[in-house]
Amino acid sequence: RQTPDSSTAVPEELGRAADDRPPRLSVVVPTRNEAENVPVLIARLVPLVTSLGAEIVVVDDSDDDTPAVVARVAADAPLPVRLLHRPAAARTGGLSGAVLLGAGHARGDWVLVMDADLQHPPETAAMLAAIAMRHDVDVVVGTRYAGDGSRAGLDGLVREATSSWATRLVKSLFPRRLATVSDPMSGLFAFRRDVVRLDRMNPVGFKVLLELLVRHPAARVAEVAYEMAARHAGRSKATLREGLAFLRHLSRLRGQRLVGQIRTRPRTVRERLHEVGRMVAFGLVGLTGMAVNTAALWFFYEPAQLHHLLGAALATQVSTTWNFLLVDNLIYRRNRRAGLPARATRFFLLNNVLLLLRLPVLQALVWAGVGVLAANAVTLVGLFLVRFLVNDRVIYTA
Ligand code: GDD
Ligand code: MN
Repeated sequence: RQTPDSSTAVPEELGRAADDRPPRLSVVVPTRNEAENVPVLIARLVPLVTSLGAEIVVVDDSDDDTPAVVARVAADAPLPVRLLHRPAAARTGGLSGAVLLGAGHARGDWVLVMDADLQHPPETAAMLAAIAMRHDVDVVVGTRYAGDGSRAGLDGLVREATSSWATRLVKSLFPRRLATVSDPMSGLFAFRRDVVRLDRMNPVGFKVLLELLVRHPAARVAEVAYEMAARHAGRSKATLREGLAFLRHLSRLRGQRLVGQIRTRPRTVRERLHEVGRMVAFGLVGLTGMAVNTAALWFFYEPAQLHHLLGAALATQVSTTWNFLLVDNLIYRRNRRAGLPARATRFFLLNNVLLLLRLPVLQALVWAGVGVLAANAVTLVGLFLVRFLVNDRVIYTA
């Protein structure tokens, strides 16, 4: 039984034979029924990338005569052109599968991925590769969403809106990894071959770059703006089915991220002790705070003869000051992110909001016949428990 295995496919070598020097750049072009586009693409691309030391790797999943057309136009090309044609039964992973297969056969230090339909102008693509190869980065993304980039070529308003919302969604799902990437779903990008672990990437759907970025969180990314052109000829292969595949792809990528988080390094004994120490410190600060609060309330209520609610409000300002000084200097000393005014404001705001919740309970207890100081202490203990759950991290890490 013969099952075509695309991973062992041998590229058909066209154009000028590769010499002893390996190419510096491999331009990977996925094609699916692009017979009308591919001659134009190769004619425009070849003069631009030859001097970069490039080879072209066409990965074809066509049913039309794209392979024959590639062979014809590549015959006298001044650089190596390699054609990998996957028969219908071997087209695993669609566009992504094709790109990964091409990257697996690439010999250059850099791989440039671009579409065959001229939506990625060859001039821009060649420039992107040239820039990438001169810089100390790992991935360069062609972006339509930054600088002078534009997506004028996206067919229709609906497609345009879908694309920009999908980009927003994706960025919100991977806020850290994609913080500096404005177009994570671009089909035009280049990467350093030795940085990318192809075996870690799943060939799913259309979004190869997203897969690459999420699977390589340490890769250094830069962007080059480009204007996406309209398709030269033929139709887009993006379908509703691709849209659904995209959503499945997203949930899979999110899933892997969770697994990554669960499998974090176990905490050391020292880190655990530190955590316990912090909890004990919290408890102690809370206890001394209660003592300070009670003493202050006694002062405002007894000798100063103020109303007990006013006394409780003032006592809270005293104990909050006390707590702030302790917490700020002892517990969160090394974790300060906000400036002093911001930390103090948040601390006092939080405590005064909690005071507003505490006062009605205090009043109810007093009405029920509990002494003012005892009633105040009861509400403080209750609050302490709440605070323990919603602890001061809010102030320091928000
Ligand atoms: N080998 C192979 N196999 N190539 C494919 C396949 C496939 O199953 N499907 C599409 N291609 C090729 C097309 O021939 C074209 O060269 C390129 O991949 C892009 O396909 P289009 O059908 O033109 O996609 P698009 O223009 O809708 O989407 C492009 O822009 C998106 C962002 O707007 C692609 O670059 C997407 O990757 C990108 O996300
Ligand atoms: Mn296209």
